[in-house]
Amino acid sequence: MTVAGASLLDRLAGIEEKGLAAIGEASDPAALESARVEYLGRNGQLARVMSSIGTVEASARRDVGQRANAVKTSLRDALERRAQQLTAAARASSDRIDLTLPARGRWVGGVHPVTRVIDEICDIFAELGFTRVLGPEIESTWYNFTALNIPLDHPAADMMDTFYLDEGVVLRTHTSPVQARVMEAYPPPVRVVVPGLAYRRDSFDPSHAPAFEQIEGLAVDEGVDFVEFRAAIEHFVRHFFGSGTRSRFRPSFYPFTEPSAEVDVTCSVCSGSGCSTCKRTGWITIMGSGMVDPAVFEAVGYDAERYTGYAFGMGPARIAMVRHGIPDMRLLYEGEMSFLRQFI
Ligand code: DAH
Repeated sequence: MTVAGASLLDRLAGIEEKGLAAIGEASDPAALESARVEYLGRNGQLARVMSSIGTVEASARRDVGQRANAVKTSLRDALERRAQQLTAAARASSDRIDLTLPARGRWVGGVHPVTRVIDEICDIFAELGFTRVLGPEIESTWYNFTALNIPLDHPAADMMDTFYLDEGVVLRTHTSPVQARVMEAYPPPVRVVVPGLAYRRDSFDPSHAPAFEQIEGLAVDEGVDFVEFRAAIEHFVRHFFGSGTRSRFRPSFYPFTEPSAEVDVTCSVCSGSGCSTCKRTGWITIMGSGMVDPAVFEAVGYDAERYTGYAFGMGPARIAMVRHGIPDMRLLYEGEMSFLRQFI
């Protein structure tokens, strides 16, 4: 039985038309592949027509064969073109600049909160005529203890028993030895502030660090009295903590001052009504201080009959904690950026 060539030519025309439409509409590589399978695949529509060519009347076979090949070529070309279009479209969309993407933040450095406190303290005392000076962290026991009227067997030295590097050489336990160094090097009058690190055999805990910043102050001249001392501290407190802050002196003891006092300020967190920062007292201790003991003047060769002075020492890390309500001193020494960034 033979098939009329005309009916196969009709089928071929239909396959070409629908095949081209399916290929043109394919919107992604998967859709394109299924169009290929449907029309050009081994069991696709074109293959089925080809396999029936043998049944076509002999005179029409050549025409049908040529037409089938032409349809095959036309579908293949269309397939290739569509594949290229899809690849180009995919590349273009991945190359596009997304203007809604948030910009990468600029890295902004900042001054560490403790360093800022040190700078502000030194600036306030600079207005009162104090010069900023530095001293060595590796110190002799003479400057660290003896010159400051702390005999090595005195209980006050115990408290500071610390890191000995050698016989008679320690990591300084406070910045006070720079008092003696300055007085040895310069004649009176002297007004200095001395920021720097001090070392003690303390473990890290919420309120201690084995290496910590201190600021020492020293003023020596003829006629420096307790009134000037009190006024200078009051000036500092109001400028640093704010004009509403009050201060008080509490009697204390240091071997290198007489009389000695702890300076307290009204708690900046609760304004003096009592909270956990000030342990419900309304006051926070910010420094040790006092009138320079004549024994210190004698150790450095100053005339103790003629000169008087006052001295003080404070811990900027503690002051930064009070200022910012920081509950644990260790936060200031860990270098954790998520914490430090708040102060930039
Ligand atoms: N050096 C003392 C300490 O480390 C602090 C201090 C107290 C310094 C009284 C002074 C002062 O100059 O007069 O605890």
